[in-house]
This record gives sequence, C-alpha cells and structure tokens, in this order.
Amino acid sequence: MLTTAERARGLADLPPVQSDSLLQLIALCNADPRPDKIDVGVGVWRDGAGNTPILKTVKKAEQRLVDTQETKSYLGGAGDKRFAELLRPILLGQHAADQRIAGLQTPGGCGALRLGFELIAAINPGARVLYGAPTWPNHPPIIQSVGLEGVEYPYYERGQGAIRFEDMMNALEGASPGDVALVHGCCHNPTGADLDEDQWRQIVRVVSERGLIPFIDIAYQGFGRGLDEDAFGVRAMLDACDEVIVAQSCDKNFSVYRDRVGSLWIKTGSAETTATAVAHVFQIARQMWSMPPDHGAAAVHIILEDPELKSEWLAEVATMRDRINAVRQRIAAADPRLAFIGRQFGMFSMLPLSKDQVLKLRSDKAIYMADSGRFNVVGLSDAQIDRFIAAVVEALDA
Ligand SMILES: Cc1ncc(COP(=O)(O)O)c(C=O)c1O
Repeated sequence: MLTTAERARGLADLPPVQSDSLLQLIALCNADPRPDKIDVGVGVWRDGAGNTPILKTVKKAEQRLVDTQETKSYLGGAGDKRFAELLRPILLGQHAADQRIAGLQTPGGCGALRLGFELIAAINPGARVLYGAPTWPNHPPIIQSVGLEGVEYPYYERGQGAIRFEDMMNALEGASPGDVALVHGCCHNPTGADLDEDQWRQIVRVVSERGLIPFIDIAYQGFGRGLDEDAFGVRAMLDACDEVIVAQSCDKNFSVYRDRVGSLWIKTGSAETTATAVAHVFQIARQMWSMPPDHGAAAVHIILEDPELKSEWLAEVATMRDRINAVRQRIAAADPRLAFIGRQFGMFSMLPLSKDQVLKLRSDKAIYMADSGRFNVVGLSDAQIDRFIAAVVEALDA
C-alpha cells in the first residue's frame, strides 16, 4: 500500500470550484417556485412576451442548410472563410478593403478574446492589459489564463450613471508602449455606459500616441445606436493605429448564443505581417479547438449572402434594438434617479442599489439581478416592467 505522501495527486485532490456568480444566480432563479418571479440576471435578449425566439432569418437559413448542405467534412482552421468576408463590411465599414486586416471565425466572442490574448502573450508576455472596472466578469480570468497581467482602472461612477473618463484617460496615458487597452466597442457590459464619439477620438489619440495595442471587444453590434454607429470606435481605432485587435460576436445580434459564432480581427502594418500573425493564430487555435464549429456561422453566411435575407435580418436587429431602447426609456421616465438608464445603450445597466437591497428584492419580490445591481433591461417582459419599476423605486426610497 502506498502511503498518502507517496500517492500521486489524483482527481480526488481537486478543490471545490466557486461557480460563476451569474450561473449561481440563474440556478437560484430556476429553483424559485414563485410564479411571478422576474429574471433580469441572464444576458439574453427577450421579446415582450419574455421569450428569446430564434430569428426568422436564422430559421430560414438553417432550413436551407438542411436542404442543401452536402458534407460536414472539415473546413480547416479558418472555419468558414466566406462568413468572415461577409462580416467585413458590417464590422469594418470604410476599412473593409484594407488587406492589412484579416478576420477569422472563432467559437463566439469568448473564443476570439482568448485567441487574441494568446497571440499577445506569445509576442509580448510582459504586456499589461488595462481595462476599466467594472467589466464583463470573464475578461480578467481570460487575461490571467494566458499569463498576462491585468491592470484595472475605474471606468464608471455608479451613483451618477457616468463614465469616469478622466480616470480612463489618466490610466491610458500612464501605460507603456506595447501594453494593451481592452475597450468595449459598444453596449458596455455591465454598465451600459458607452463612450461618445468625442471620447472615442480622445481614447484613439492617446492609444496611438502611447504606442498601446487597442483590443476592442464588440459583442453587441446593432443593439445600441445602429450597426454602423456601434462600430464607430472600431473604425476610429483602425483610422489611427497600425496594430489593432478586435473580438467580435454574432451570438447576440443573430440570437444564436448557444451556436457559438464569432470572429477575431487582426490589423498590422502590412499585409505580409498580418499573414504571419494569422499563421500564428491558427497554430494557437489548433491546440485549443482545432477548428471552430460550423453550424451557426454557416447560417450567418447564408443570411448575409442573400440580399433579401440580409435586409430581413437588418430589420430583426432593429426590432431587438428598438425594444431595448423602449424599455430603457420607460424605466428612465419613471423616476429621476433612473433617468441615466435612458442615456445608456445595450441590454445592461447597473442600478444604484447596495448588495443588501439587491438581496431583499430577491427574497421579498422574487426579482433576480446580479449582486452588483446589474440587470438586463430586456430580461423584463412587457407585463413585468411596471412591477419591476415599482419594486426598484421602493428599494431606492427605503
Ligand atoms: C462584453 C462581452 N464580450 C464577449 C462576450 C462573449 O460572447 P459569446 O457568447 O459570443 O462568447 C460577452 C457575452 O456575454 C460579453 O458580454
């Protein structure tokens, strides 16, 4: 018999894992038997009836795929190349023809983030990644997972619903050449507080003057002001910088969350350098997922290739955006303390509530939002909006 000291460490030695707080919240909400519970924790778009339907264009594209797809043989590391080509003008606008920019399919925006940071860590393991707090809770662990140092600066003044722009500028001005500036492209998660065009111009100036690498995470294009408007920051950064990385997601604006559809975009100073960078990225991806999943990207490809389906999809994106903005305006009009919600973009906002107030809403009113007060404005069905507003105003008054 081996003694405990001699025994190799095995699976039984694994420590328990603290599960993601948002996943815990979903489980708590699911377990709540109260029929009138409100789930504004989960980050998916919902219609007025509280459902997350499959887009009509996606259904049509999937049907076409079933009818016409002849093989599921391997596509290669780049996945569906036509998918990335069709996304180019939507994301890059006036930069679409720039051959120094390459895009390749990834498993969702998350896969693009991981791959982009892996590339940076391979080039410059000493680079620091600056990001504003609060940010999407998965950003810091992804940065750490590739061995890069994350550096947080304050981004948001919660009580006022305002960006701490001076702090953001100071942090970027203090960064060293080669450091990475991770910036949300639009529809900031978790705050909804987006940079305006003038602020973007200032950020672009400091990033390019300091020789920082801009890394833009754009997961909600079309959910804020419009597809082109939401890409303003990406395009402004491309105007000014030779090296830019963008992680893009189609999971939200095509409502294909579980199908994992995204892309990574790399711009360098020359088409040759970009080709070399892409070759490195393929090698890294080969060790992780080898090739991205096809189904969702194939459906997006069909939609964007067909002018009729594309214009139907544009209308579906507008419908999703319009509901987000209509619910925002309704909440904002209810109380001056909530007015800031009407000036923000995307699905998320952060209520100026303490953790105790959030927990009390959960226990007393069956309203489920993150402990931070982050809530999904379109998590609310039409029938739930007034009750939600009344409960929040009551909590603010208490
Ligand atoms: C800011 C941000 N970036 C990236 C992602 C990742 O999206 P995906 O589901 O496509 O991996 C999300 C998803 O919630 C997000 O909020």
